[in-house]
Amino acid sequence: MKYRIGVSQCSEDIWRDKQNAELKMGAYFHDGVELKFAAAYDSDERQVQQIDSLVNDGIDLLIVAPNQVATISPAIDRAYDKGIPVIVFERKTNSQKYTAFISADNYEMGRVMGEYIVSRLHGQGTVLEIKGLEGSSPAIERHNGFMDALKGMPGIKVVGSLQGDWTEPTAYETTQQWLSNNKDVHVDLVFGANDRTAMGARKAFQLLPQSGETGRGPLYCGIDGLPGENGGIQLVRDSLLDASYIYPTHGDQIIELAVNILEGKPYEKETMLMSALVTSDNAKVLLMQGEELMRQADRLDLLHHKADGYLHELDAQRVVNWLSLGMIILLVVVFVLFYLYHLRKISMQRERVVNTLWNMGEAPKEAPKAPLSSPEGDTNVLQDNEAPSGAVGGAFVSRFREAVESRLSDSDLSVDDLAADMNLSRVQLYRKVKAVTGSSPVELLRTARLNRAYQILLTTDKSVSEVAYDVGFTAPSYFTKCFKEEYGMVPGDVRK
Ligand code: FRU
Repeated sequence: MKYRIGVSQCSEDIWRDKQNAELKMGAYFHDGVELKFAAAYDSDERQVQQIDSLVNDGIDLLIVAPNQVATISPAIDRAYDKGIPVIVFERKTNSQKYTAFISADNYEMGRVMGEYIVSRLHGQGTVLEIKGLEGSSPAIERHNGFMDALKGMPGIKVVGSLQGDWTEPTAYETTQQWLSNNKDVHVDLVFGANDRTAMGARKAFQLLPQSGETGRGPLYCGIDGLPGENGGIQLVRDSLLDASYIYPTHGDQIIELAVNILEGKPYEKETMLMSALVTSDNAKVLLMQGEELMRQADRLDLLHHKADGYLHELDAQRVVNWLSLGMIILLVVVFVLFYLYHLRKISMQRERVVNTLWNMGEAPKEAPKAPLSSPEGDTNVLQDNEAPSGAVGGAFVSRFREAVESRLSDSDLSVDDLAADMNLSRVQLYRKVKAVTGSSPVELLRTARLNRAYQILLTTDKSVSEVAYDVGFTAPSYFTKCFKEEYGMVPGDVRK
């Protein structure tokens, strides 16, 4: 991932949901942007913890809607001081440590709503205000704008300014409480700091005996003007609210701003988003437009998921391809290695056939040490001058070879016979042969018999038994056993 962006939302509600969806949608348009969301559910403490943990997770930029003006600043400052760019949106802090701020003008919204209310009541009437969360900047600014609009309007009387916290249940309870304490006070209009607050108050008013669904209660105005099911625009169209004010979410725009900051491109430090009043005059059109936009956004989202699905499939396909290729390469390598091994084995066997007795005219480079005692039990130590070397060794071996070769088919041939042929004692023959070749006469005799057999097998059509007898073996089965030990294959395989 190129950029990890942390989003710290102070609350969780339909306004935030819409904005989060837009933030996600905005991120689709940039490669390598990952969003990490945290919602504090209106708790200062939780939001501070969440910001700290986002920072510890290594985010590259923080987008934050601080629950209240003063309480979240320390955590935001900590992030900023670590060099993490901070975009504060929609709610302000009392700190200057931020990279950019983006919001609609909350004071202006309160003021315009105040002016609308004055004209709606024709300059005469009573208003009950339910404010937003104390200490959160939109609550303060909306209230100030609203109050400023009423200045110089003596006909409009604010009969109560109740403390809400942006939520419907609190507005409902506070209003109920106020109503039970102010039974005789008539209210023409309720101004809720947001639509949910206005609707909470409405529910409380409807409990009054003279009110109810059909009764003539006060008018209700709020702020947020969300499109979609149960959004402010629909509530105005259905006359549940008299007016609302669009509080823009613009998540995609916030992502643009974030990416510009991260990529070092120019950006506005303070961005004011446009907004507009929603009344029965425009609610229908606005709702249609809003719904159309949401439909398009849904389709875009679907498209994105489809593209994502295809990309995943492609990735999986790629993995399968690489694995298959790996398997094929492995199989080829194993096959080649096996083939080479087989070739080497055959060539080694051939070499052995050629290089053993019949080519051993030369003495080994390093003459093997003579054994301290011969297999025949002679305990005499080999004398240096008894080990022929160089040309002497070569001549000796030639003579020995001739002796062996000439009597190879004789199954009764013994080392004693060979020694006698060479005018040596058995012990002398043993020592000399061993000293020159490293093998004993018996071993060499057996190797010679097997080599001759190999050659006969290669060059004639004789049966295995015939070959065995030809080279002086008395039992074909024992011949086969010895042959296998020597060449790693049975005699029959030589011709394959
Ligand atoms: C959403 C919300 C809106 C309100 C805004 C004020 O969390 O409560 O209803 O307009 O926050 O910050």
